[in-house]
Amino acid sequence: MNFNALTPELLVAFEAIVGPAHVLTAQRAEAAAIADAYADYGRDHTEDLHFAPDVVLRPADAEEISQIMRLCHEHHIPVTPRGAGTGLSGGALPLHHGVVLSTERLNRILEIDERNLQATVEPGVVNEAFQNAVKEVGLFYPPDPASKGSCSLGGNLAHSSGGPKAVKYGTTRDYVLNLQVVLPTGDIIWTAANTLKNSTGYNLTQLLVGSEGTLGIITKVVFRLLPFPQQNILMLVPFRQIEQAAEAVSAVFRAGIIPSGMEFMEREAIAWSSDYLKIPLTLPEDIHAHLLIELDGQDLDQLYKEAEQVYGVLERYDVGEILLADTAGQKDELWRIRRNIGNSVRYNSVYKEEDTVVPRAELPTLLKGVKEIGARYGFKSVCYGHAGDGNLHVNIIRGDLDNEMWNVGLRQPITEIFELCVKLGGTISGEHGIGLVQKGYIGIALAEANLELMRGIKQVFDPHGILNPGKIF
Ligand code: LAC
Ligand code: ZN
Repeated sequence: MNFNALTPELLVAFEAIVGPAHVLTAQRAEAAAIADAYADYGRDHTEDLHFAPDVVLRPADAEEISQIMRLCHEHHIPVTPRGAGTGLSGGALPLHHGVVLSTERLNRILEIDERNLQATVEPGVVNEAFQNAVKEVGLFYPPDPASKGSCSLGGNLAHSSGGPKAVKYGTTRDYVLNLQVVLPTGDIIWTAANTLKNSTGYNLTQLLVGSEGTLGIITKVVFRLLPFPQQNILMLVPFRQIEQAAEAVSAVFRAGIIPSGMEFMEREAIAWSSDYLKIPLTLPEDIHAHLLIELDGQDLDQLYKEAEQVYGVLERYDVGEILLADTAGQKDELWRIRRNIGNSVRYNSVYKEEDTVVPRAELPTLLKGVKEIGARYGFKSVCYGHAGDGNLHVNIIRGDLDNEMWNVGLRQPITEIFELCVKLGGTISGEHGIGLVQKGYIGIALAEANLELMRGIKQVFDPHGILNPGKIF
């Protein structure tokens, strides 16, 4: 890619579009004593990576973004779109510097349409703020990534984020009806219609979702919603053998139950997170993994019947004492422990996150394989994730691995882990995306013909290759 450097004339033009207060450079940030906040625009939650932007722009709407894109397209300036910066594959890192385009000011919920069970929002709205707003009118937006308190809906769309509820309710893409998008050339389009069905041409909506900010910048979203499930039951199930926890997962589904959460945590995952949050949790010596199982619906009696069926399945395994959370506070605490595993791992050590995913019943084989590969190459991993989806987050801990092993030596074992996923019918990312850090491995999951098609699509949308360059492939 041949990109041009920013010029003083372009900075002046950007100021005319978004206003001087929303054009940040390192120099201006230094002068305004916000150097740290500025540096944050060059990192996300991926390892300890940092790439400095030449300028950060904070536009207010699609029209301003369109004007920015026209200029950048004309002058061959790289643009990296950015939501809240909680991504785990480096998707928001400005690898080629240039413009970081933050959607933080596009943060309005424009409409909650109770008649149609739909909502129209801007991409900078925080996931949890949206969930809470629709809940107030009895509606439900299920996708709930662990970072829901800080991640933006735009970032969720970029990777089709999942979270614990995906097992019953699907991921972000399953709730998107229509998108307003600014294309790299500056054109503004709507991808579809606000309907539940649509057989009108290619599905540009689903092409944009998961495109990791490489095809366009989403500026409005129409989501479909569900009625809010009023009741739930949550249980924490300790297992003496880690493989048995993985095996019990598919057995629950085979018994006819679809839980609204089916999360796996190996011993260290739950121990590190409860320590990090200072929530006391007694873990008997012989317990090596837990499943956190949630059932939800509108009828509590029905849920208790389902819980009995789950207990019936679990009896076949070597489980410890099952904790049935009986207050809202206790449920909240268990979910906080689960959601903070990633934070607690980051607090303990720099780590590499592999977002492995396989068909659910292959989870025990995947888990065994990951541990075997780790033992063979001498690294430690902390594993946890959305077991009901066969989605295992493998966190490779830096600990005292030297630079050579960290930067080069791990490539071979990571390749082996991903090859195992593919052999089992899975792939290399379930919900975190390819971004920057997994792009070297994409050939394990996708054939050259697939990649050729994707490169062709990229070329059609972005002939100068300026939008989020260096990501995916
Ligand atoms: C989680 C994030 C890392 O499941 O996806 O905690
Ligand atoms: Zn996850």
